[in-house]
Amino acid sequence: MMRLSRRGLLPLLASLAGLRRALSPETAMAEGDRFPAGFVWGASTSSYQIEGAVNADGRGPSIWDVFSHTPGKVKGGDTGDVACDHYHRWREDVEWLARGGFSAYRFSTAWPRILPAGEGAVEERGLDFYDRLVDGLLGRGVAPWLCLYHWDLPQALQDRGGWLHRDIAEKFADYARIVARRLGDRVKHWAMLNEPNVHALFGHGIGGHAPGLAGLSNMLAAIHHQNLAQGRALQALRAERAGLALGTVLSLQPARPSSERAADRAAAARFDAFWNGAVLDPLFAGAYPATMSADLAPLIVAGDLEAIRQPVDFLGVNYYAPMWIADAPGSLFGAWFGATPPGLRFTSFGWPIDASGLAETLIRLRDDYGNPNVYVTENGACYDDPPPAADGTVHDEDRVAYLRDHLAAARGALAAGVRLGGYFVWSLLDNFEWAEGYSRRFGIISVDFATLTRTPKTSFAFLADAIRRG
Ligand code: FCB
Repeated sequence: MMRLSRRGLLPLLASLAGLRRALSPETAMAEGDRFPAGFVWGASTSSYQIEGAVNADGRGPSIWDVFSHTPGKVKGGDTGDVACDHYHRWREDVEWLARGGFSAYRFSTAWPRILPAGEGAVEERGLDFYDRLVDGLLGRGVAPWLCLYHWDLPQALQDRGGWLHRDIAEKFADYARIVARRLGDRVKHWAMLNEPNVHALFGHGIGGHAPGLAGLSNMLAAIHHQNLAQGRALQALRAERAGLALGTVLSLQPARPSSERAADRAAAARFDAFWNGAVLDPLFAGAYPATMSADLAPLIVAGDLEAIRQPVDFLGVNYYAPMWIADAPGSLFGAWFGATPPGLRFTSFGWPIDASGLAETLIRLRDDYGNPNVYVTENGACYDDPPPAADGTVHDEDRVAYLRDHLAAARGALAAGVRLGGYFVWSLLDNFEWAEGYSRRFGIISVDFATLTRTPKTSFAFLADAIRRG
């Protein structure tokens, strides 16, 4: 196991000093871009994407273990077996957070580490790992923000239907209670789910992600049962312990029409309902968007919508890009990604770059959803970074430009009265990017997946500088 000794720390401090010197006026934040005192600066990760150690300490298999080990499912045959080996190297990773001045770290607990069969016997060694991590974070002045589910469902539950069955909601609430009993004395911020819409569409609607299911009815079941599980877990944790800040994390993106054609405008509205509305409306208004309610009706049992509509202390918003949507009669729900406007720029993942979509999303929450307390819980960009330079830094000026533009958009939303309390970059580390494996890098710290060496990027120094300035 890697432990960060004093000897290990010295090169780290030296490289940070070098990083600061490397920050040119172009890569630093503009003076006017100040954030309010108390603004939370964080970095995000998730369990399967970074932990590795998939067989350690009694962990059970998750749907992503099974999926990634199925030939042809993940680019290059990559798996999360080792990932960033964060399970053993977490002390070094906490050290990077502290050195960057981050006040918060969002991570997820792996359900199959804690309940290897998804329910029943609790694996204390799994809880012990998160216990150590939480204490390590607090000891370095970094607040733990815990997300209970970032897509790594125990395979044993998948074998019994997973998110297709409504009984998963109670199982999730039981799991949430177990984690809160162990960590609720030290972890204040709890997010129930990560991006239920992405998990439903990509994992259950088109099958590109685990568990690899396809079809509209599977997608809708996964949406509704995640919403229900989120509601049940919010109720369970609220009853379990006073003083917790409870919320959830959604992927929200403006759905813009691909052209001015009426059919594309209607498709964009439909996509918006199935993507943003399907997770926002039941949570904040206790109803699904009208365009999808007939499709969902067979899944809804009396009391479900009341259970889903729970007060939240915060809403986490993950934002990467707007979507341009076209009429697509043969697709899952009649609308799909279409042509993007001319002149648009893209990251190396092919995702459009448009920071205005972040402000638009936050302002919509202000106007249509009662202006909740929000945090940007993921934002970042994928680029094909160069290898570390002689100065010990990975130079990622493109990512810096992306972050600077999106922070400016966040600042603009704050000025417009959005109750934005913080910003978490995705991601602390380069990691296992789902079906793309290790080919897509989002980290502000570079990871050499052969040696597992961590090297800071210019974007790390940029954020550290922005945090210092406030
Ligand atoms: C989000 C996921 C996260 C990561 C980023 C790039 O949708 O929550 O795990 O894959 O995209």
